[in-house]
Amino acid sequence: MTYSSRYPPPFPLLCAALLILGGWIQSDMILNILKHIGQITTGVSLGTSGPDVILCPQADPIIPILHAELSKQMDLIYSSQAFKHASYKLLSGSVRIPTESYDDLLPVGQDERWNIFTTFRAYLQDSFPLVYSSLEITSVNTHGLVFHWQGSDGSLKPLLLTAHQDVIPVDWSNADQWVHPPYSGDYDGTWIWGRGSVDDKADLIARLITVDSLLKAGFQPRRTLVLAFGFDEEASGVEGAGKLAVYLEEKYGRNAFAMLLDEGEGYNENVKGGMIFALPGVSEKGYLDASIQVVTPGGHSSVPPHHTSIGILSEIIVALEATSHIPRLTRNGTAFYVAQCAVEYSPQGRLPPIMKDLARRAMNPDDEAALEKFASILFKAIPLFDVLSRTTQAVDMINGGVKSNALPERAEAIINHRVAEYSSTTDVKNHIRDLVLPLGIKHNLFVDDFGRGDSMRSDVQELGKIILSIAFGHTLEPSPVTPVTNNDMYNLLSGTIKATLQTSSRYQADGVVVMPSLGLGNTDTHFYWNLSNNIFRYSHRGDRDDIYGDIHTVNEAIRGEAFIEEIRFLTRLVLNMDEFQETE
Ligand SMILES: *[C@@H]1O[C@H](CO)[C@@H](O)[C@H](O)[C@H]1NC(C)=O
Ligand SMILES: *[C@@H]1O[C@H](CO)[C@@H](O)[C@H](O)[C@H]1NC(C)=O
Ligand SMILES: [Zn+2]
Repeated sequence: MTYSSRYPPPFPLLCAALLILGGWIQSDMILNILKHIGQITTGVSLGTSGPDVILCPQADPIIPILHAELSKQMDLIYSSQAFKHASYKLLSGSVRIPTESYDDLLPVGQDERWNIFTTFRAYLQDSFPLVYSSLEITSVNTHGLVFHWQGSDGSLKPLLLTAHQDVIPVDWSNADQWVHPPYSGDYDGTWIWGRGSVDDKADLIARLITVDSLLKAGFQPRRTLVLAFGFDEEASGVEGAGKLAVYLEEKYGRNAFAMLLDEGEGYNENVKGGMIFALPGVSEKGYLDASIQVVTPGGHSSVPPHHTSIGILSEIIVALEATSHIPRLTRNGTAFYVAQCAVEYSPQGRLPPIMKDLARRAMNPDDEAALEKFASILFKAIPLFDVLSRTTQAVDMINGGVKSNALPERAEAIINHRVAEYSSTTDVKNHIRDLVLPLGIKHNLFVDDFGRGDSMRSDVQELGKIILSIAFGHTLEPSPVTPVTNNDMYNLLSGTIKATLQTSSRYQADGVVVMPSLGLGNTDTHFYWNLSNNIFRYSHRGDRDDIYGDIHTVNEAIRGEAFIEEIRFLTRLVLNMDEFQETE
């Protein structure tokens, strides 16, 4: 998972969000939650109002029926020590190959740093001979990998499981802080250590082990299964997922896949009992780095103008920070759905009791007042919702001036934006332009509006200019939102998550709540929007007990048992999807 593909900030935003959300989920809520379990039902559609409206409706656990025997047999195999150790070994071996990706990589074929992926591919081929002899395997742009497992029923849309082969580079300056060396792949009896052990080789190897195990058990799919593995997700994704997307759309067609599952958030585990919250991602915010440059004449600073380019830039920044984007809770947005889950399942006291009634009323499209009131209380009570519901802006870089006795000819600020689901990068540009224009007029500066044509020509001669542009040449619109209500695929995913957790020997869960989440970072899926209406970002593992350190820093390690749980989950998902019959 990557948090900002080109210029990653050191601070992993998504993890921060999870911690905040985790903080909300964790507290002393278990008793309160227990009261609600009886209310969990299926198939309730939103959009009506009244006291009987169910907030955050839940799917029932889904267990394979046609494949019931096979599913039991697989669980039995997966519980054996032999299987576990063989699986750990496969993951360890993959971690030992340092498939680092760098922001400055040249295209494939022009940069020998890609060669490590040849080694990685050879490792996969050696490790999964049955997969390689049974599935159709295609290389895309040399290192992209597609595995096609033909199903017997061509009327069923295929299932697409994706992951990435690359990892972020290890920072060797603090490598001594690793308990086990970064590429050791050590298994210490509990943890499998190393860069990529979580992000994202766990997902990748678990997918292959699932297919391998099902092949060994003689499973023959009705529904075609496709795996696709990019190799530069931690950089731009352009060479890997970017090319895979084109190939997959050409070969399978637009919206050809019933479901696409990529890496993402997991669940908030509670090993000792109580409720587990699982958070499949259904959308991602957009991304835009805006550059604001103020260019003014230079000169000696003994005869300065009233405002230098630095002063004017400062004025712009102050104006920007005083006019942040307004948060908006939309009825069809992910944040509102998550809020329903918060209202229904968060501890009493955290949210005023009136919120339940307000939430139900707010679902009624005619009751704008209820929605507004609900939103305003929510944003204050749980600030994360404010962040989820708005385009955020952060002035992250500033630069200007070269000498203490020379007027600065140029001053520049970079403002990082994460664009709200309901908004667009055009909205962001307009927002900046509308703020900057009056200041341009005030200071007699021409404003270049992101190259969109002359925005301002003053009657007098301009003294300089303000150039608005996209920094680092990379923007991303907010993703489409995978529907959560009345969506068979969301229910199937939810039901599979529940069935896996409730049959796990690791947990004594009193219940599982599945709620959608909105990614603040981006994954390879932003290339895959054309492939499926049902894109989910979800890695079936606990967000704390199952991961040792943080994924992008020192001591990345995954709990061995958690890796097995992911295989159990993926196996159920494949079997459930295999016996699901779409109703056209
Ligand atoms: C939500 O509904 C509005 C219209 O009411 C529509 O413009 C928007 O695209 C919808 N957003 C999502 C995420 O479905
Ligand atoms: C998705 O489809 C649109 C419209 O056909 C096309 O312009 C775009 O390039 C496609 N996106 C990707 C990532 O292939
Ligand atoms: Zn990743």
